[in-house]
Amino acid sequence: MNSLYLPHLAQITGIKQETQDIKTFKLALLDLSAGSFFNYRPGQFVEFSVIGEGEAPFCLSNSPTRMPKGSIECSVKKIGKLTQALHDLDIGDRVGIRGPYGNGFPVEQLKNKNLLFIAGGIGLAPLRSLINYCLDKRTEFKGITILNGARTPKDLVYQDEYEHWRKAKDTQLHLTVDCQEENWACMVGVVPKILETLAPTCEDSVAILCGPPVMIKYTLPVLLKLGFCETAIITTMEMKMKCGLGKCGRCNIGPLYICKDGPVFNYAQVKNFIH
Ligand SMILES: Cc1cc2nc3c(=O)[nH]c(=O)nc-3n(C[C@H](O)[C@H](O)[C@H](O)COP(=O)(O)OP(=O)(O)OC[C@H]3O[C@@H](n4cnc5c(N)ncnc54)[C@H](O)[C@@H]3O)c2cc1C
Ligand code: FES
Repeated sequence: MNSLYLPHLAQITGIKQETQDIKTFKLALLDLSAGSFFNYRPGQFVEFSVIGEGEAPFCLSNSPTRMPKGSIECSVKKIGKLTQALHDLDIGDRVGIRGPYGNGFPVEQLKNKNLLFIAGGIGLAPLRSLINYCLDKRTEFKGITILNGARTPKDLVYQDEYEHWRKAKDTQLHLTVDCQEENWACMVGVVPKILETLAPTCEDSVAILCGPPVMIKYTLPVLLKLGFCETAIITTMEMKMKCGLGKCGRCNIGPLYICKDGPVFNYAQVKNFIH
């Protein structure tokens, strides 16, 4: 019998150590009848299970335009039981995948706009999916600015893609770390402070941010001060989840379910729930 909760079997086909505690897993679905996977959107997520250990949500971290049919990528930060079990896996091991779930980024709303991506740490994962999507459809969007922060240079994810991003037409990449370190030639300072200094235009622009709650909290007032309207600020929300399908009631903020109505929201939708 078909069950919504039954995961599809997938095999790990690649593992990249991004930082000391973050790995990117490339996965190929073994059950090719799981057709919906072939049509995921940037900003959606999957429920990822390790047999005998449990299940947790992870966003799809690369653009559907860059993945072969039936393949996905997820970047996982090691913080607890399941993520440790994931980090212990090798190429060839099998895992379970349910999804894709969630709304994804409002790509149509972003067309013909200047895009300002703001990320902190592993928060770059869902944004990378959208950044690469926009770069692959470059003529549909105006200028692209990426501000990416991490605690130290060693904590910056997707470093081997920066050159490609820098060279893309009308695209700027700004990197920042919290403290000065030897041989670090980019910026130093927390993301909201650097954003204030860069002061990007709000005209015809949409800001898309993802990162730790503290980064989101202090970045939002800067964006409002720069003149971004509430519906032109888009953020992803995270919360403990169970079903991922809007059925168990675990992930609500006010009347919204993060798994079903999100995880992507504009600021007007969630401003009363961000503290
Ligand atoms: C929609 C969505 C997308 C996500 N995408 C990614 C992703 O791309 N990469 C990634 O590394 N992680 C992502 N996460 C977070 C990921 O699901 C958790 O890190 C994972 O569930 C932790 O499982 P664990 O068993 O290793 O840790 P646990 O043992 O469950 O928890 C360890 C510690 O982390 C805290 N914690 C657990 N889950 C969360 C959470 N969601 N938010 C804040 N704190 C938490 C716990 O309270 C505890 O203190 C996402 C979460 C959501 C809801
Ligand atoms: S995780 Fe069950 S309702 Fe969202």
